[in-house]
Amino acid sequence: MQLFVASAPGVEALLEAELQRLTKFETKAVPGGVELEGDATTLYRIALGSGLGTHLMLRLGTFSARRFEVLVRKTAKLPFRAILGDDVRFEVTAKCRKSRLHHTGAVAERVTTAVAEARGYGQKSGPLVAIQCRIEHDEVTLSLDLTGEPLWKRGYRSETAKAPLREDLALALVLSSGWDPTTPLVDPFCGSGTILIEAARHALGLLPGSGRSFLFEALPFFDRGRFLAARDSLQAEMGRPDAAPLIRGADRNAGAVEAARNNAKRGQVGHVVTVEEAAISKAMVFDVLKESTETHGAVVSNPPHGHRVGDPRTLQRLYQSLGNRIGELPDGCPVALLVRDARIARSVGVPLETRLLTDQGGTKVRILAGVTGARGGPNAKGAKGAKDARGSKSSKSSKSSKSPKSSKSTESPS
Ligand SMILES: C[S@@+](CC[C@H](N)C(=O)[O-])C[C@H]1O[C@@H](n2cnc3c(N)ncnc32)[C@H](O)[C@@H]1O
Repeated sequence: MQLFVASAPGVEALLEAELQRLTKFETKAVPGGVELEGDATTLYRIALGSGLGTHLMLRLGTFSARRFEVLVRKTAKLPFRAILGDDVRFEVTAKCRKSRLHHTGAVAERVTTAVAEARGYGQKSGPLVAIQCRIEHDEVTLSLDLTGEPLWKRGYRSETAKAPLREDLALALVLSSGWDPTTPLVDPFCGSGTILIEAARHALGLLPGSGRSFLFEALPFFDRGRFLAARDSLQAEMGRPDAAPLIRGADRNAGAVEAARNNAKRGQVGHVVTVEEAAISKAMVFDVLKESTETHGAVVSNPPHGHRVGDPRTLQRLYQSLGNRIGELPDGCPVALLVRDARIARSVGVPLETRLLTDQGGTKVRILAGVTGARGGPNAKGAKGAKDARGSKSSKSSKSSKSPKSSKSTESPS
């Protein structure tokens, strides 16, 4: 089988590394995802074990076509009867680029007719599967979406707060942070808890796809016995039942805190995730990072983007408050933030590098990462600019945790 695992833009390299752990087949990262060949067990392992993929596609065929007649004839030759069976309906979507056949509506219509013909009967009831027809430079690629609901819909996050982060991007942030899962992780703007839950599930080795079903379960090739065997062996390989990660979150919004706690329970990590209702200036969650002298826990967060905040200074003060709290930490703690605006993140006072550029729901976002105490950071000896950047003196004393104004004035409404 030729498979394609799609990802959010910019996540391809991380996804390829993940797939290399999940399969024994060669992988090839391309813009938008990773290509590989594999058998049904490979497909099951990817569906269950990939936390970074968004969709798992089966490549049905590739061929050249510059005329509708050719498109229909070559499509109708593909074994749709065997692939789709009796229990699903299908719909076709088309994308055309730099090709003689450029009218997406007409392409989708012709492919629909050809697939229906090849299948030998009209659409029945049952789940709806999506067939994608992509034509680029007159080269047609037909693919079948095997997952249905995107892979990042793990099934645990039925409660959301404002601006929730997608699960795959939360995991990409955690993996880009440099966090060692045997050390604590803190998210002081945790919202509905996605980062906390993804980090905890990763540390415990829980399978990202174990709590959901997949569209391919309705297709003829699906073999439940083999699927369950693949799940059990993957869980045995990845599971770290003895791990005891310390995952701490805070949010000033009571509704978000409740959602995070409930989502963590549904995500089977309620026993390792604790969430506090507190504004950044008062949150106790940072204490867990100050306790140990040998290990360095991480701050991993998706602070408010502030797109609805009229005054950009309000958002800057919020990032300065975060910088004040980070300034209390020992040197060597990884810090990773997912932000829209890299300039505003400078207010945190830790030198942060862009690790990944991606987008969420059409908005460009970036993952920035660094380490406390690095040259130019708030804990660096003689760190010039720490005062300017964070609005208070760089010091590990509790004084430095005070925000420039009252905590209320530093809170973003977003
Ligand atoms: C972008 S959202 C985080 C979303 C989260 N990653 C998720 O997946 O649900 C930012 C969060 O910061 C919280 N927040 C805003 N100002 C805050 C402050 N001053 N202190 C603590 N939390 C704050 C908001 O309530 C919101 O839940």
